[in-house]
Amino acid sequence: MAQQVGTNLTWHEGAITREERQACLKQKGVTVWFTGLSASGKSTIAVALEQVLVNRGHAAYRLDGDNIRMGLNKNLGFSAEDRAENIRRIGEVSKLFADSGLITLSSFISPYVSDRDAVRALHEEAGIDYIEVHVDLPLEVAESRDPKGLYKKARAGEIKGFTGIDDPYEAPAKPEVKLATHEMSLEDCVAHMLKVLEERGALST
Ligand code: ADX
Repeated sequence: MAQQVGTNLTWHEGAITREERQACLKQKGVTVWFTGLSASGKSTIAVALEQVLVNRGHAAYRLDGDNIRMGLNKNLGFSAEDRAENIRRIGEVSKLFADSGLITLSSFISPYVSDRDAVRALHEEAGIDYIEVHVDLPLEVAESRDPKGLYKKARAGEIKGFTGIDDPYEAPAKPEVKLATHEMSLEDCVAHMLKVLEERGALST
């Protein structure tokens, strides 16, 4: 985990509290963290959930692995160290977005328990709600979907260190939510997430 290098720093409090921001948005900020294999359906669910939330008048925003790796994290690859830094940075960004009052939908393979637990701890320390969602399906099903042809390339040795093929995926032991996307429809997954957000009190103040 990264050490703070800067010294002589002082936290600068704002004049507006988190509660005031939430009252303004009529919702509570939360991070919904989707973890799972490539092609498991993380981004598809986040896209559909964001659409329903915004159409209902909620402020929601997606942070997506591929997108973030084309901008903020363009200097990171797929070694364990780079994946850890990818998740650390996006964990910090998710925390800030959720603190601002947004329903933050973060979709990252995030294969390592230790990296995900650090993101959870970051939210807990800040008193920000955090929902880990394991988008869970057998590797064979993800591989048969292969929308970007990456599993095929990984099997052919054209991509090294591909999650599930020659790189590990450590499944969460106790996620708040498990979505078995090979058994549930997209509509059911979205409906389930809306119910969870409602129950957690995120959709009102
Ligand atoms: S993570 O492991 O660091 O959490 P992240 O979710 O940001 O990964 O990015 C995963 C995406 O990068 C995949 O959806 C896939 O399109 C692409 N990708 C390219 N190379 C790899 C690789 N070696 N392992 C996994 N995904 C890869």
